[in-house]
Amino acid sequence: MHLTLRQLKVFETVARHLNYTRAARELFLTQPAVSMQVRQLEEALGVPLFEQLGKRIHLTEAGREALTYARAIHLQLDELETVLNHLKGLSGGRLRLSVASTANYFIPALLGEYSRRYPQVTISLEVTNRETLLRQLAENTVDLVIMGQPPDGLDVEAHAFMENRLVIVATPNHPLAREKRIPLTRLQDTVFLVREPGSGTRSAMERFFSEHGVRIKTGMEAGSNEAIKQGVQAGLGLGLLSRATIDQELALKRLVVLDIRDLPIIRHWYVVHRRGKRLSAAAQAFKIFILEETHTATRDMKRSQGKSAKARRH
Ligand code: PGA
Repeated sequence: MHLTLRQLKVFETVARHLNYTRAARELFLTQPAVSMQVRQLEEALGVPLFEQLGKRIHLTEAGREALTYARAIHLQLDELETVLNHLKGLSGGRLRLSVASTANYFIPALLGEYSRRYPQVTISLEVTNRETLLRQLAENTVDLVIMGQPPDGLDVEAHAFMENRLVIVATPNHPLAREKRIPLTRLQDTVFLVREPGSGTRSAMERFFSEHGVRIKTGMEAGSNEAIKQGVQAGLGLGLLSRATIDQELALKRLVVLDIRDLPIIRHWYVVHRRGKRLSAAAQAFKIFILEETHTATRDMKRSQGKSAKARRH
């Protein structure tokens, strides 16, 4: 059977009006063009769809059947169009984003701006640890992930978009708080509060101290940056945290950043998805948005800092 959607559309219009002239007017076609489309459809189906009784045309039994299917096909096509529009984010697309807990200190502000730009998009944000992020990527249950280190052994596309500086924090009255250019060796056997296993901050910290041959003492282990900050303020030890997490504590002078040589540890944030994943329009838009937005911010920050970056890459 060889027929076209166009023929079905013309047939449905004629069947609705039971009049070629009115159908032609609605379709912006000439009457012979309409008749020809109907004839071609009848040939393709091998049955007459209309019969002429007196001056009027009527649907045949086959015509009534064909009309039911023609309408169903057009309904399905309309539905497909709606679904695709949703997927494209044109009306009511969805962004499923999962981020490492530390990223939650800057992601909401970016999401605010994104949402102002794409108000039709519904956002679902999950804040979780690295282990869960890896599982979500492996199981393909998320559009995009924001993490501190792209996974090894999983085929992903990862774009670095912003620096993540890790610093050591203490209370303002800590003996090291006023010292300058403190050598790392001074931290030997110092008590540090540490994040939970599976935290990107924790593994970067362990790698850093072991690469520098410094042995620290592990104090309280806590499952969030907030708990580490509270613990440090309570005098339970030092903490190594992303600079992004301590704006308020620095402003309120509850914590200070120690001036340690070889610090900060400079890591990066990555936006990650499975390679070859067909991103929804909403996710694609967010990926482009975050790369552009932070590119501008990073460039401005670098300009204002000049070339005095003394931090080493890690
Ligand atoms: P996290 O941060 O420590 O909150 O897991 C992610 C990372 O820095 O890799």
